[in-house]
Amino acid sequence: MINNSILSLDAINKSLATRFIGKAPGWSNELWEKLDSTNNRASELASQGAPEGVIVMARQQTAGRGRQGRSWTSPPDAGIYVSFLLRPSIEQSKLPIYTLAAGCACVEAIQEYCGITMGLKWVNDLVYAGKKIGGILSEIPSQPPNNSPAKISAPNCALIIGIGLNIALDERQVPEELVNRIDWLERISGQSIDPNLLLVCLAKHLENMYELITSNQIPNLLANWKKYSITLGRQIKATTGNSTVEGLAIDIAEDGGLIVQTKDNNCITLHAGEISIRTAEGTYV
Ligand code: BTN
Repeated sequence: MINNSILSLDAINKSLATRFIGKAPGWSNELWEKLDSTNNRASELASQGAPEGVIVMARQQTAGRGRQGRSWTSPPDAGIYVSFLLRPSIEQSKLPIYTLAAGCACVEAIQEYCGITMGLKWVNDLVYAGKKIGGILSEIPSQPPNNSPAKISAPNCALIIGIGLNIALDERQVPEELVNRIDWLERISGQSIDPNLLLVCLAKHLENMYELITSNQIPNLLANWKKYSITLGRQIKATTGNSTVEGLAIDIAEDGGLIVQTKDNNCITLHAGEISIRTAEGTYV
């Protein structure tokens, strides 16, 4: 593959070393010059009955979405903006486990390709030296009506795993409020990164992690996540809707929830929301 700093569909298709991700029979992977959001496009394909494995990428997103209704900064050719369409048999409550799998895949791909080890902040921020490098937005798009052809050709519900990785941002493109909170791989590694190679590596690791779930090896997946966690053993503050919980993050549950021991010695499991981790100075980041 030609070393390049720009995503190329041809290069990616030729180099994918996966069994089914990116190799959906009868459906092409997509690379767009510009999209609102790769997750939106992947949902559209899902509603048309696209099978498991289709990859949607964009060189730029005009309305990239993050968790908690935030936007995801997606300038042209500054990162990987990708969505993987999967069709596991899952319930909404199992969503965190797939997000954890995607987080592990990102860590392992970056480790393999860039030689840098990221940390995972629950549920799935990729963090390096306290700054966010990437994030994951897993979504289950609404199902087509029961009698539609899409439903018949796609019996399992769709799961869209959207991943954003910062590779080569220009400081001037970073919104003011994020300047001290995010970073990018080229700045950290001091080397130029070919997004095609990183994406191919990511697809391989995602497939491996996904297969841990589908072959009933969730304990192995959780063991991986714990290895990369920067959350467990830390004091955290969690916000879900209007309520806030503070306590010690002690473990990850079988379904991917975060088990927190509160000050009054109760154990609660978080399944949604956003956490901040207490620093040595007592502030939360
Ligand atoms: C987060 O940390 O808040 C999640 C960010 C997820 C961003 C990616 S970029 C590709 C995909 N398309 C989107 O609109 N969002 C995800």
